[in-house]
Amino acid sequence: MTRVEPLEPHHPGTAILVAAAAAVGGFLFGYDTSVINGTVDALEETFNLNSVVLGFVVSSALLGCAVGAWFAGPLADRLGRVRVMLIAAGLFIVSAIGSGLAFAAWDLTIWRIIGGLGVGAASVIAPAYIAEISPAAMRGRLGSLQQLAIVSGIFVALLVDYLLAESAGGDAAADVPWGGPAWRWMFVSAALPAIIYGVLALQIPESPRYLVRRGRIPEARKVLQRVIGGDVDLKIREIQETLVGSQDKVQLKELRGPRFGLQAIVWVGILLSVFQQFVGINVIFYYSSSLWASVGFSESSSLLITVITSITNIVTTLIAIALVDKVGRKPLLLVGAAGMVITLGTMAWAFSTATLNADGDAILGDTQGKIALVAANLYVVAFGMSWGPIVWVLLGEMFNNRIRVTALAVAAAAQWLANWLISTTFPALADIGLTFAYGLYATFAALAFFFVLKAVRETKGRELESM
Ligand code: GLC
Repeated sequence: MTRVEPLEPHHPGTAILVAAAAAVGGFLFGYDTSVINGTVDALEETFNLNSVVLGFVVSSALLGCAVGAWFAGPLADRLGRVRVMLIAAGLFIVSAIGSGLAFAAWDLTIWRIIGGLGVGAASVIAPAYIAEISPAAMRGRLGSLQQLAIVSGIFVALLVDYLLAESAGGDAAADVPWGGPAWRWMFVSAALPAIIYGVLALQIPESPRYLVRRGRIPEARKVLQRVIGGDVDLKIREIQETLVGSQDKVQLKELRGPRFGLQAIVWVGILLSVFQQFVGINVIFYYSSSLWASVGFSESSSLLITVITSITNIVTTLIAIALVDKVGRKPLLLVGAAGMVITLGTMAWAFSTATLNADGDAILGDTQGKIALVAANLYVVAFGMSWGPIVWVLLGEMFNNRIRVTALAVAAAAQWLANWLISTTFPALADIGLTFAYGLYATFAALAFFFVLKAVRETKGRELESM
């Protein structure tokens, strides 16, 4: 394959706007997966749930995400990237309103799974679309917008949960002044960003790589001129070359290869995804309030810690955006993995010093509590400047034009399953001991380091056509 020099960004402003619109899907991803945090106690009380059913209701959305991600690939090749965004927006809106009006745990589960389908689809479409529409020189930065949107979504959802609970006197099961229990409004609030997402998706052009694949050359030319610039006809020829021999509809069988049934690059994508989750990041975001409370922090300071952690995550994503197209993807992943080994190891050590109080709860000493807190936030820094954004950037760009969305869909589905596995097993692992849980995540971070060293190739500045 010919090595193509990066084109100069022609209209960086347009590319940024278009990528930002697609990244709003990431905002919903963060919002929908974390808005449930503030509702958990109220759901337990309202529907009289035991902890097993509650756990299932909460985690069911993640399984929906895996299914949504899986189907988004083939759908995006058939219907186009933008139409899949519109479908996802519709699913988000239905899920937000349905969950808000739920009358029992079983229908709430269904509404949450429907939202999960949307989250899963958006998690595939945003990175693919952004990579396909970005000039090579700024692709890493634009791809990181997805993560910035995800972490902003997490932060805003936690904030909205907090404000709604406060307006109901600190109890999510109680009514807000304008009527109805606060937890219902938490779910309904997700409809607003979903509508914005749908409206923005109606404004943005279809991906040029998809248009070329469907033979819609004049349209592709127009989009390329608008967002990428340079020699547009040459670009179209290059895209066509990379598509030679591929079918109109990409099927899973195009991913087949000699290594355990799949091409090596597909395995790299799957493993990047799995490691991104196995280092335990979402344990921090889904459970941190109860984690800090369980080792002796008050309930309100635990909630505050959680909010601070999500702000830390936003700020560190900005660091990644500044660095990703300069130092490259691989060095950031390596530094991030090493940082996570150290910080997770420190947390494992701190929790090993906990003593039991009269009620049998594990309590950390003053100094160890502070050390654990600082280590947890430094861990979020290490993740946020590396594995958080970069895995999404790589998944968007590392596959060639033929298999991109299909391979990305498989990797993203694996990521959602891994997320589900880690989040459902954490309570049981924590029962065995927090030292064991964080020690395990530290081990995965160490494995992730060596995996990147051996298996990941730098993609900074390269054209998609040369992947
Ligand atoms: C990444 C992960 C997502 C996680 C987020 C937190 O986007 O894919 O699961 O919630 O980072 O920063």
